[in-house]
Amino acid sequence: MFHTTSTLGALPWALLAVARLTNAACECGYSLNKTSDASHAVFTELLENDFLHTDAQSLELKNHGWQPQVYNVDKATARGSFGKGFELENIVTNPLKTSGWSGDAEHGGDAGLELWVRANPRNGLVSGAEVVTVRDDALLGSFRVGMKLSNSSGTCGAFFFFHNNTQEIDMEFLSHQFNQSQGAVNLVLQSPEAEARNWDASGTSGFRTKLLPFRPDNMFHEYRFDWTKERVAFYVDGKFLHEITDNVPQEGGGVFFNHWSNGDPSWSAGPPAADTVMTISYLKAYFNSTNTERSQNAYRQRCPTYDPSKVCAIPSQSTAPDASIGKTGAKTYFFSHEKDMTPGQTLYSSAAINFGVPSLSLAVPILVMFLSWSLM
Ligand SMILES: *[C@@H]1O[C@H](CO)[C@@H](O)[C@H](O)[C@H]1NC(C)=O
Ligand SMILES: *[C@@H]1O[C@H](CO)[C@@H](O)[C@H](O)[C@H]1NC(C)=O
Ligand SMILES: *[C@@H]1O[C@H](CO)[C@@H](O)[C@H](O)[C@H]1NC(C)=O
Ligand SMILES: *[C@@H]1O[C@H](CO)[C@@H](O)[C@H](O)[C@H]1NC(C)=O
Ligand SMILES: *[C@@H]1O[C@H](CO)[C@@H](O)[C@H](O)[C@H]1NC(C)=O
Repeated sequence: MFHTTSTLGALPWALLAVARLTNAACECGYSLNKTSDASHAVFTELLENDFLHTDAQSLELKNHGWQPQVYNVDKATARGSFGKGFELENIVTNPLKTSGWSGDAEHGGDAGLELWVRANPRNGLVSGAEVVTVRDDALLGSFRVGMKLSNSSGTCGAFFFFHNNTQEIDMEFLSHQFNQSQGAVNLVLQSPEAEARNWDASGTSGFRTKLLPFRPDNMFHEYRFDWTKERVAFYVDGKFLHEITDNVPQEGGGVFFNHWSNGDPSWSAGPPAADTVMTISYLKAYFNSTNTERSQNAYRQRCPTYDPSKVCAIPSQSTAPDASIGKTGAKTYFFSHEKDMTPGQTLYSSAAINFGVPSLSLAVPILVMFLSWSLM
């Protein structure tokens, strides 16, 4: 794009310097609230997945930052009337047929990453699905998912951060808690206290069931948690729901999704009467890293001196990200769909789709020439 500069003799150096400034952003990270707000938090790392436009075999999900999990938990360990089997075949990408934000999905139904729970237990196990981020270095951050839950009673669908069993942040949806008018989400910070109660967190300060004024199996909604040192704040479609301040995790880990049933009437219930799906339309995570190569070296390279003007505020999703809301209801903001908003980030292969990024390559040289001349 700089081929025209060669005709300008001594100018190329100035051109490059200015082009960098006009062309790149977010070198110093991503913020919750604006950096000018009294209370804000800055995170240096980004992971974004647009599952409406992701087409991959389950094992290829690794190329998108996600590792499918395959393992069994026997009935005794699962503490239910069935064990749990996590299987590859229950993890299915189902992209939209076009690069737009609505319309038919490849395999019918809702577009997105599907996690299935099967109706008929086999060998005493209910077959379900689990995926986890390849990265396990997330420490503090804002974690957001566009998700539609199972419409069949008897499963648990979960979105969670995990370091270990006592440092864990959960948003868990039990489909038996949904009815015609309402739903619910269970917010949990696992703790040594829950461990002492044989992993029954429900009597601890780290547990709260919040009613939702809609059916989570009806539409996609955005579920989010903001994890800072002092608290974990939970949000739905950008609206604050609840916060927990005890046993806030202080160690790094990864992000998980799973969808399962073990027949325990006091939790997942089930198994479901029919095969049933939970669908994820996107995951967006902005976080700090426990990996010093990332948090020190890579960050210092792109942001040698902290400059708040090089921090990008993370936009809030304030409506349900669902295709039924207008033509573009499912269209949400991705830094990774913009030009040069992810400098130095670890990006996994993105969808093979051009998202109509405005052609800066034409605009920049003109602007740059103007600036360089006015400097002379
Ligand atoms: C962002 O601002 C809101 C509203 O003032 C506040 O409740 C929240 O704690 C702030 N978040 C952070 C991470 O500072
Ligand atoms: C995240 O890391 C950056 C760089 O070390 C630091 O400036 C920032 O305060 C950290 N964020 C939080 C919420 O601690
Ligand atoms: C439940 O979801 C499945 C899969 O998306 C769909 O085929 C079925 O029609 C839904 N059933 C009801 C009662 O909404
Ligand atoms: C979880 O990790 C923390 C910090 O490393 C440790 O203190 C705690 O004992 C661990 N809990 C379990 C159940 O392993
Ligand atoms: C619907 O479900 C909610 C949450 O599980 C519950 O509190 C409410 O009483 C239920 N309403 C009806 C009409 O069953």
